[in-house]
Amino acid sequence: MENKKILEIKNLVKDYGTKGFRTKVLRGVSLDIYENDFIAIMGPSGSGKTTLLNILSTIDHATSGTIRLNGKDITHLKNKELSKIRKDKIGFIFQDYNLLDTMTLQDNIALPLSLHGTANTNCIAKTKEMAALFGLSTHLKKYPYQLSGGQKQRGAACRALITAPEIIFADEPTGALDSKSSRDLLECLKHANEEGKATIMMVTHDAFSASFAKEVYLLNDGMIKCKLTKGKDRKEFYDRIIDVQASIGSDFV
Ligand SMILES: Nc1ncnc2c1ncn2[C@@H]1O[C@H](COP(=O)(O)OP(=O)(O)OP(=O)(O)O)[C@@H](O)[C@H]1O
Ligand SMILES: [Mg+2]
Repeated sequence: MENKKILEIKNLVKDYGTKGFRTKVLRGVSLDIYENDFIAIMGPSGSGKTTLLNILSTIDHATSGTIRLNGKDITHLKNKELSKIRKDKIGFIFQDYNLLDTMTLQDNIALPLSLHGTANTNCIAKTKEMAALFGLSTHLKKYPYQLSGGQKQRGAACRALITAPEIIFADEPTGALDSKSSRDLLECLKHANEEGKATIMMVTHDAFSASFAKEVYLLNDGMIKCKLTKGKDRKEFYDRIIDVQASIGSDFV
C-alpha cells in the first residue's frame, strides 16, 4: 500500500516586490510529499529554497498556487489556524539552532510537549528517550552555552521530533556545523526517518547532506529541474548528485 500523502503542492508561485520591480522567485513548483519521505531540496544561493520551505511550513504566503496538508487546502487559512497547524503538525530545525538560552537542554527538548500540556513525568521520559537516540544523554542538564554546535543542533532535532509531527522542515541544518558534527546530525535524521518513520524535508546547498535523503529535488530559476532517487548506496548517490549539478550549470554549487 502506498504511504499517505502529507503535502500536495501545486504550481506555487512567489513574487517579491511591487509593480515594476517584481522578482519572480518561484515560478510554478509542484511536488507531493508522502509519509516517511526524506526529501532534500538543493539549489544555488538565491534559487528560492528558503522561500519554498517558509511557504510550505506556513511561515510565508505564496503569490499563487495551492498547498494541501492531509488533503486539506491550507493556502488561505487565517493566522490563528496556521499557528495551530505549526504547533500540532510541523517540526522545525533551523540553521542557527534556535534553542532558548535560559533553559536547559532537557527543557528545550521538552518544550513542544509542555506546550501541548503533556504531564511532566511523560515529558521527562520522552526527552530521555530522544536524547539517547541523538547521543545527548549526558548533556541534558546543560544550558545551550555549555554545548557544542553539533550538540545544540542534535538537541534542536530532538525538539522538532519529540511530538512526532506530520513533517519536519529543516533549512540548512548542517550550515553551521563542521563535517563530523554534520555527519552525526545527518545519521540521526536518517535514523529518525528509517526507524522512527519521521517525514523530513531538508533544504541544503550541500551534496554531502543531500545524499543522506532518499530523494533530491534540484531547484533552479524558481523551478524544479529534476528529481534524483537514491539506490542502496549513499556514496553512489552523492557522486550522481555532483554529476547532475555539474551538468545543470557552473552556478549550481
Ligand atoms: N522578503 C524578501 N523581499 C524581497 N526579495 C526577497 C525576500 N526574501 C528573499 N528574497 C529574494 O528571493 C530570492 C530567493 O531567496 P531565498 O532566501 O529563498 O534563497 P535560497 O535559495 O534560500 O538561498 P541561500 O542558499 O543563500 O540560503 C533571492 O533573490 C532573494 O534576494
Ligand atoms: Mg536559504
